[in-house]
Amino acid sequence: MSNDAWKLAAAERALQYVEPGMKLGLGTGSTAAKFVEVLGPKVKEGLELICVATSQATQAHAEQLGIPMTTLDEVPFLDLTVDGADQLDGELRLIKGGGGALLREKIVATASGRMIVIADETKKVETLGAHPLPLEVVQFGLTATRNMVIALAADAGCEGEITLRKGADGKPFVTDSGNYILDCAFGAIAEPEDLDEALKLIPGVVENGLFLGIADLAIVAGADGITLVGSDDGDI
Ligand code: A5P
Repeated sequence: MSNDAWKLAAAERALQYVEPGMKLGLGTGSTAAKFVEVLGPKVKEGLELICVATSQATQAHAEQLGIPMTTLDEVPFLDLTVDGADQLDGELRLIKGGGGALLREKIVATASGRMIVIADETKKVETLGAHPLPLEVVQFGLTATRNMVIALAADAGCEGEITLRKGADGKPFVTDSGNYILDCAFGAIAEPEDLDEALKLIPGVVENGLFLGIADLAIVAGADGITLVGSDDGDI
């Protein structure tokens, strides 16, 4: 099976946790898109749901498939969010934001009773960090913010190249919330909690891509089938 087939397998498995009448958060990225693809036909068959998207791209995709959508302002508490991740470790700590949607993803996930991560096995790591950590930063004062990131990340034991993300047009990538993304190639992040705490002190950093203590379950699909990380106690 290819990565793509594994992503689909994880997405299909996540359907098991969706119940009629649920308020669902829909993630962003190629794996989350698979979940939207498999959810569409279920809605057509009569499954009643109301969903909130974590990005404009997911919103458009879901609308195209006839999935009923609302906003987090209309429905501020969701039962479940299903989303992908760039990396996850054995303690269900995540790096997210490869698709640039980390702020909305974190807002939606933390407004949800449960978050399920769907991923192919290439995302599962011993130690977070080989994937650059995305930071969503305000455009104003970018250089000052970047300098503070360098200094405070170093205090938390993390150093590496920090790059302003560019779009396909070569211009800085702008998120759905109008911010820039700094990709931080820190390498292994030994103490994600320390780094998270340090980054939260920087006014220009709106959010960072570390999702700590947010995910409840990960469905990881790979060569040996599906592996679950976290709680599958039926509450989900
Ligand atoms: C979007 O901002 C991200 O958090 C995605 O969930 C993450 O990048 C995983 O994307 P893929 O499923 O495309 O790998």
